Amino acid sequence: MKLRQFRFEDLQKATRNFSKDWLIGSGAFGNVYVGTFDVEGTLAIKKPNAESYTSTEEFRNEVRLLSTVKHRNLVELVGFCEESGPKTAKILVYEYVTNGSLLDYIMGRGGRSLTWRQRVNIAIGAAKGLAHLHEGVNPSIIHRDIKPSNILIGEGFEAKVSDFGLVRSGPVGDQSHVSSQVKGTPGYLDPAYCSSFHLTPFTDVYSFGVILLQLVAARPAIESTRNHANLHIIDWARPCIERGKIEEILDANLLIEGCNMEMMLKLGQLGLRCVMKEPKKRPTMTQVWQELEADLYLTDDFLPKQPCKMDSHRLNGISSGSIGHESHQSTMDQDYSQSIVSVDGINLQRFRVDLDGLSFQSGGLRCLETNESTDEDFSIPR
Ligand SMILES: Nc1ncnc2c1ncn2[C@@H]1O[C@H](COP(=O)(O)OP(=O)(O)OP(=O)(O)O)[C@@H](O)[C@H]1O
Ligand SMILES: [Mg+2]
Repeated sequence: MKLRQFRFEDLQKATRNFSKDWLIGSGAFGNVYVGTFDVEGTLAIKKPNAESYTSTEEFRNEVRLLSTVKHRNLVELVGFCEESGPKTAKILVYEYVTNGSLLDYIMGRGGRSLTWRQRVNIAIGAAKGLAHLHEGVNPSIIHRDIKPSNILIGEGFEAKVSDFGLVRSGPVGDQSHVSSQVKGTPGYLDPAYCSSFHLTPFTDVYSFGVILLQLVAARPAIESTRNHANLHIIDWARPCIERGKIEEILDANLLIEGCNMEMMLKLGQLGLRCVMKEPKKRPTMTQVWQELEADLYLTDDFLPKQPCKMDSHRLNGISSGSIGHESHQSTMDQDYSQSIVSVDGINLQRFRVDLDGLSFQSGGLRCLETNESTDEDFSIPR
């Protein structure tokens, strides 16, 4: 793949000499700036701390490795800058991803939230990106630092896995693992990897499982509650998911806007499978996205055909957790199946159904108006 080699001056110009106003984030690796270029447009510039690369060779290896990987769900490396002498610089230049990181949405920064469908699509996209790293390149790549800040959200709310600063090649040939120093982020680190130092693709699957739970609950991986210091989301969520009571751990935004509870329960259940103690019992990333796509397909395919039966079933289990607010008209219109679980006063003007003595209103109505246009941003397995 052809990478562009940038001059340090070009990057200085594009970021007004790495000014604070152009800074979009910083992490352990260094600072990330947004830069504007005449030809390439807007790009993200990752300027590492001086100690991030021990040698030029290490930097070149990283660039070489990154340049071999291309997938719509992976942040693309556009180019790099390598200069020695007085202006020593080792900088990576990536495509600029416009809608922030998944962390912004999980933390609700700036009032940001995601619909249930966006959450499922982000899970599918991120899983596809990771599956490509694990199975689509040779030698395979294990990410090792999967966490919400490393899942960026593109223009169409598609997931783009980022931050290959910690990537290392995966096992080669018959090897099932590589031994390595433990690296990663607390809360997302696989305990099996921490104790054995055996790095396998299932190490990433564990971290991804934590993210699936966060997509359901919009809660930090580790949080202190009144009764528990440092309660991990797995321990907090497990009892409710195992009892099928997803509404008890669901992000309040989803309760307000309405969502497909069965799909959210599936996300939670899959999350628990991804974090199973024994790595080999976990699904592969390919299995993860295939299962999610199939579930979403079934959800979408099933609803228009048997609207009332399905609604009744869902509503019986869900109505108590759904709160109606009239301010979500636009989201509801785009996201038809939200209407199936949204009760008590949402979008009264469009329809009214009486079912099992329960009165509810629906805004999206695809279950009743089967030709309603829908979000087609996912591919359906055939
Ligand atoms: N290509 C990009 N496009 C848009 N924003 C980006 C891009 N890369 C990174 N960012 C933003 O910059 C922030 C900092 O990224 P960085 O990878 O340096 O650190 P981090 O992932 O937050 O933390 P850590 O260093 O612990 O991994 C990200 O959270 C994201 O919001
Ligand atoms: Mg990052």
